[in-house]
Amino acid sequence: MTDPAALPLVPRNPLPYRELIKAVRNLDSGQEVIRAAGGRITRVAIGPKWLVPPLVSVMSPSAVRDVLGRSDAFSERCIVHEEVRHMAGDSLFVLPNEQWRPRRRALQPVFTRPHVKAFGGHMSRAAQVFVDEWRSRGAATTAGADIDLDLACRRITMQSLGRSVLGIDLNERADEIAAHMHVASSYTADRALRPFRAPRWLPTPARRRARIAVAAMRKVTDDILAACRADPSRDAPLVHALIAATDPETGRPISDDDISNDLLIFMLAGHDTTATALTYALWSLGHHQDVQDRVAAEAAALGDREITSADVGRLGYTVQVLREALRLCPPAAGVGRLATRDIEVDGYRVEKGTLVAVGIYALHRDPEVWDDPLTFDPDRFTPERMKKRNRWQFIPFAGGARSCIGEHFAMLETTLALATIVRAVRVHSLDAEFPVDVPFTTVAKGPIRARVQPR
Ligand code: HEM
Repeated sequence: MTDPAALPLVPRNPLPYRELIKAVRNLDSGQEVIRAAGGRITRVAIGPKWLVPPLVSVMSPSAVRDVLGRSDAFSERCIVHEEVRHMAGDSLFVLPNEQWRPRRRALQPVFTRPHVKAFGGHMSRAAQVFVDEWRSRGAATTAGADIDLDLACRRITMQSLGRSVLGIDLNERADEIAAHMHVASSYTADRALRPFRAPRWLPTPARRRARIAVAAMRKVTDDILAACRADPSRDAPLVHALIAATDPETGRPISDDDISNDLLIFMLAGHDTTATALTYALWSLGHHQDVQDRVAAEAAALGDREITSADVGRLGYTVQVLREALRLCPPAAGVGRLATRDIEVDGYRVEKGTLVAVGIYALHRDPEVWDDPLTFDPDRFTPERMKKRNRWQFIPFAGGARSCIGEHFAMLETTLALATIVRAVRVHSLDAEFPVDVPFTTVAKGPIRARVQPR
C-alpha cells in the first residue's frame, strides 16, 4: 500500500448541494444518483468541511474491499452507530472495535453455522403455522386465499427469532414491537444523515416518540432477561450467552442494562432484515412461476415431513433464489464507517474523519459488475459461478470483521421458510411493484398482496 499522503484526494461529486443532500437521504436508489454523477468512488461535500464532515461514497468491489476487508483499514463505527448508541445504549452493533471484540467473541458461538442448525425446527414450524392458516382461509380450494406477504413474513421471522434465540413467543407482541422498531430506527437514521442536527438535549417531538418506542422495546427485553434469570433452564441461547459473558478487563459479567440493550439490537437487526429478504423472495417467485416450480420441486423431493436444517444441502436452488433476492433488494442498503486516519481506497486518499458510505444497493445493481442487473435470475448464484465471482461484489451481510453475526441464522431461516411455503402453495403476486421504505434498513411498504393456492 502507498502512503495515502502521496495519493490524490477522492474526486468531488459534481452534483449541486441540494441534489446531493436529497440523494444521500434516499438510502437505496440515491446511491445510483450519486454514482451516475461522480463514479464508483466519489466525495460528497454537502457543506463546508468545518461545518459538515466529509462523506465518501464507495460502490466498486475493490473500494469496498479496501474499506471493509483490510484488517488495517482503520475503519470504525460512524455517526449512524453513534446515534443508535445514544438512543439504545451499548450493544454489539455500536461498540467501538476495541470494546466490541470480546463481546463478539462471547456471542459468536450462538451464531455459528453448526449451532444455528439447532434452531431449524422453530423456523420451519413458524412458516408452517402460516401455511395452515392460509389453508383454513381458503387456500385449500382452487380459488385460493388473498394474503399480505409483508405481514406474513414479518410474523414468521419474529416468531422464529423469538423462539430460536430469545426463548419467548413474540407473536402476540409482534406488530406492536415492529411499530416501535420503525419509529426508533427511522429517527436514528434520519438524524445521522442530516447535514445539521439539533442538539441531543433538545426534546423534539420526533425524539420523544423515539424514546418512548425504545422504552417499550426495552420493556420486552427486560422481561425476557428476567424470565431467563428466574428460569435458567429456559431455552434461550442468546440470553444465556450474554449472561455468561464477562468483561475481559474486569472479569465482571455484563450489566443487565447492557444485556437488555444487546437483546434489543438483535431484535432490531434480526427482524426487519430477514422479513424483507423473505418477502422479496416470495414476491419475485410470485412473478416467476418457472423459478417457483423449481423451488417447489426441490422442496417436494423431501417428502411431506417437516423440512429441517439437515435438508439444507438439498435445497441449493432455494438458497440461490434467496441470494438473488438479497442482491436485488439488500435489506441493508448500505453501511457506514469512519476513517480513523488518512487511508487508501481504490488508489485515492480518504481523509481522517471522513464518513465512508459503502453503497451495497448500487454495487448489487451495477451494470459494470453484473450482466443484466435488473433481471431476477437465481442462476447467477450457481456454485460454479459463485466461485468465479469477486468476493466483494455481493455483500448483503457486509464483510470483514464487523460483518453480520446473524448471517447463517438468516440464511437458514429464510431457506426453511421459503421451502416450507412454496412446497405447500403456489404464490401469485398481485402487485407489479415492490415498494419499499428505507427508515434504516429496507422494509416493504406493505401490503404486498399475493394469492396463494394449493399445489
Ligand atoms: C437477511 C438478513 C440480514 C441482513 C441482510 C443483515 C445485514 C447486516 C449488515 C450489512 C450488517 C453490518 C452493519 C454495519 O456494520 O453497520 C449487520 C450487522 C449485524 N447483524 Fe445482521 N443482517 C441480517 C440478519 C441478522 C440476524 C438474523 C441477526 C440476529 C439474529 C443479525 C444481527 C446483526 C448484528 C448483531 C450485527 C452487528 C454485528 C457486529 O458489529 O458485530 N442480523 N447485519
